[in-house]
Amino acid sequence: MHAKLTIDPTNQISKIDDRLYSALIEHLGRGVYDGLYNPGNAHSDDNGFRQDVVKAVKDLNIDLIRYPGGNFVSGYNWEDGIGPKDQRPTRLDLAWRSIETNQFGLHEFMKWTQQTGTRPDMAVNLGSRGIDAARNLIEYCNFPGGTYWSDLRKKNGAEKPFNIKTWCLGNEMDGDWQIGHKTAEEYGRLAHETAKVMRLVDPNIDLVVSGSSTREMATFGSWEETVLDHTYDDVDYLSLHRYYDNQENDLENFLAKSIDFDEFISGIVAVCDAVKARKHSTKTLNLALDEWNVWYHSHKQDDETAPWQHAPHLLEDHYNFEDALMVGTMLITLLKHADRVKIACLAQLVNVIAPIMTDDQGIWLQSIFFPFMQVSKYGRGIALAPKQTTPTYNSKDFQDVPVLDSLAVYNPDQHEVVVFAENKGQTPLDFSTELCEFTAKNLVEATQFCGYGIKETNEDQHMHLQPNTQVTVDAHQLSTTLAPLSWNMFRIQVAD
Ligand code: AHR
Repeated sequence: MHAKLTIDPTNQISKIDDRLYSALIEHLGRGVYDGLYNPGNAHSDDNGFRQDVVKAVKDLNIDLIRYPGGNFVSGYNWEDGIGPKDQRPTRLDLAWRSIETNQFGLHEFMKWTQQTGTRPDMAVNLGSRGIDAARNLIEYCNFPGGTYWSDLRKKNGAEKPFNIKTWCLGNEMDGDWQIGHKTAEEYGRLAHETAKVMRLVDPNIDLVVSGSSTREMATFGSWEETVLDHTYDDVDYLSLHRYYDNQENDLENFLAKSIDFDEFISGIVAVCDAVKARKHSTKTLNLALDEWNVWYHSHKQDDETAPWQHAPHLLEDHYNFEDALMVGTMLITLLKHADRVKIACLAQLVNVIAPIMTDDQGIWLQSIFFPFMQVSKYGRGIALAPKQTTPTYNSKDFQDVPVLDSLAVYNPDQHEVVVFAENKGQTPLDFSTELCEFTAKNLVEATQFCGYGIKETNEDQHMHLQPNTQVTVDAHQLSTTLAPLSWNMFRIQVAD
């Protein structure tokens, strides 16, 4: 079997936004407590921040961190997490039926973002609370001083404002599991009024309004239309969330779900543009895919976990090799939509459906860490529209699924073309890329992630990216064979 990717430098999708490589950290299970914050652990510094986690987060080149949730934010009082730690209240977290001690709050989070070189993406509670809590929070964070909330921030140790740029207007407000769940009409009005007030405090912020929590919601599409009718002029991004599973244990169908992902994103883009047309607007609304991943292995564990524990083991999926392939194909799909998806948060980052896992002794990296790390590190620059020829297959839910999923990124600063390619087939795939007007100077790096059993997980840290030594490159073409079920990356230095 043979497949080909033609790279046309004139057929550009878009410059890739750095925020495409962002993540969610929620007060959930061992995400914060025991995860990034673990006072007394041998790996922790004086702040209680796990330094092994900090290093792994830096290795992932994460940009924004969406915080503090997720479902958690819809019942959260942000004021509980400021001030002297011994005076902070312990509360019931109703979203995850856990105990929240509030020992990690706003100031700790901001300090952690500085250590990790990340930036905050702060969600406000539009579930149990609303406009008042949101305006106080933004005054606390972004107002220079001389008012009640900004002076309290200074008293709590932050002389300079945090100047948080990106804000989410609630979380998954369409879901009836959400604390303070609303109809599209109710949420649209509230989001509009909250946006107005937040911008009165700080006109320089970017706002993300909540879209549908999944494509399967009965209100999918109409939710977006109604919410955007109220907020189109107020917000900068519409959020969307997407998780995939392989409950049915059907590998071919699982990997084909990137087609659903692609259609899901295109559908939301169409809804945004329909509202734009209806409003005769000149503004084009972009997307924040602020939760995406594979999620299903831990469902049973979650059902069996006793409620009202502090930092219980929740949503601790142990990812296997096929999940890494799914994350790889989702990353390529994201790059295909780089013209409209400007923010994307892997959900989540530590311990909770996460690439990084901790225990008392140290960390271990999940299978999904590897493709994410490579795309985050080398998927910088301009995404080029992929023109592929490839064999296809049919699966339970999808027809004509391309066996090859591939895309090239041109990084003009590094004079590099980087090709990401996944072979979803169970046999080797001869693969070539036509470089067209690019002239290859040399192959900088070629790696493959392959050879593992599809259900193999990585608790013992045996998984790693392997060099691919069977690659030939001449001035205008790269040729190799992609191993069965493999994730691949090729970095080619090109002439100016
Ligand atoms: O990421 C886990 C949960 O998934 C989030 O809290 C929620 O927003 C979504 O349903």
